Amino acid sequence: MSDTAHSSMRTQVGIVGAGPAGLMLGHLLHLAGIDSVIVEKHNREHVIERVRAGVLEQGTVDVMVNAGVGDRLLREGMRHGGIYLAFLGQRHRIDFEDLAGASITVYGQNEVVKDLIAARYATGRPLYFEARDVRLSGFEDGQPGIHFRSDEKEHEIACDFIAGCDGFHGVCRPSMPSEKWRAYEREYPFGWLGILANVAPSSGELVYSLHQRGFALFSMRSPSVTRLYLQCAPDESLDAWPDDRIWDELLARLGTADGWRPNRGGILQKNVTGMRSFVAEPMCCGRLFLAGDAAHILPPTGAKGLNLAIADVVILSRALAAFYQDRREDLLDSYSVLCLRRAWRAQRFSWWMTSMLHRAPGGDEFDYRRQIAELDYLMSSRAAMTSLAENYVGLPTEQR
Ligand code: FAD
Ligand code: PHB
Repeated sequence: MSDTAHSSMRTQVGIVGAGPAGLMLGHLLHLAGIDSVIVEKHNREHVIERVRAGVLEQGTVDVMVNAGVGDRLLREGMRHGGIYLAFLGQRHRIDFEDLAGASITVYGQNEVVKDLIAARYATGRPLYFEARDVRLSGFEDGQPGIHFRSDEKEHEIACDFIAGCDGFHGVCRPSMPSEKWRAYEREYPFGWLGILANVAPSSGELVYSLHQRGFALFSMRSPSVTRLYLQCAPDESLDAWPDDRIWDELLARLGTADGWRPNRGGILQKNVTGMRSFVAEPMCCGRLFLAGDAAHILPPTGAKGLNLAIADVVILSRALAAFYQDRREDLLDSYSVLCLRRAWRAQRFSWWMTSMLHRAPGGDEFDYRRQIAELDYLMSSRAAMTSLAENYVGLPTEQR
């Protein structure tokens, strides 16, 4: 017999992953009086310090505020009424407030996660960090369980439902039998080299730039921190990018003829991410429901991933509340269809932004001129700009 200590517990919803999807779901369930346990593989510092998304749709801000976790976001988030698209040395503004009657808010994903972890601790409900060897069982037979190791103990959580909020590389999606779901996928032949720079942003709004040398993006995290990205190879080595080379390339790709350019400053952090589109259909199997990056990922050019993750868990929390309050299963049955509709629209938009703004490796001058013509048309047509604005600020709330 093994002498490892065991711990068994029971909850209503077992949540795998403490990213934005898992933490927000736990909070929305708490507000509906539903019990949950959250199990996260990494430690708290890692989860909080991961630098990722920065753009929140108005719908995401509303969810945070209505859930009582939006105070700091309202104080520190930076509201933007539009973005710039730059090409051929000129910056052109797209006015979201005028075209779509909405704005976006720049607030780092790590700040969202920090606020949600604080809210979780305030509820006193369980959140396990550093859970090892997480495994699922029984979700096809109506007896879901989550098993993991932590503090030298084997833990077992019996639950009514499992929410797979464990991101693209998690265990939940691969736990679904392969004949029960299908993946739709596209890899892109480039990645983004991202930096955080310790310098004030030189523009009040984001700048997406198509340049002969490739795509670049100017963004920010606070009045004193700029976030910038450069198109690179998907497997680009950071060793090839000393700080001076990064700045030279950013200034070459982003600077415009009116003299605008990002401010140069100390680089606090660098990373490279590949890009892919991925959708798992359906987003559930028995009593396991996937949400966020576990079910779908997008190239970051449309700034949609975090927003989609929050939209999924709003729908899931409502479906679970209807189950516990009224024994209704219809919302659980329609969960996947509803989320996938939104996810595919976000995929289409992110794919379109990505293909309009990036140079394909080996892409010829025909492609570049076609992309410039597309941007030129976009900026000359209120209808085309409205379409971009509507998609960027997010689908209307009634579709959530
Ligand atoms: P994640 O944030 O990946 O969280 C999953 C959690 O599960 C993690 O904490 C992970 O440690 C944990 N986990 C994994 N495996 C296990 C396991 N086996 N057991 C337990 N826990 C596990 N989106 C936007 O909306 N706007 C943007 O501007 C934007 N910019 C981006 C820029 C970059 C460079 C990148 C990489 C992404 C960007 N995104 C953006 C996408 C966004 O970051 C993701 O869509 C978002 O993190 C999804 O949240 P999630 O909770 O579904 O998954
Ligand atoms: C960011 O600020 O990190 C960011 C902004 C817009 C994007 C992607 C990332 O499209």
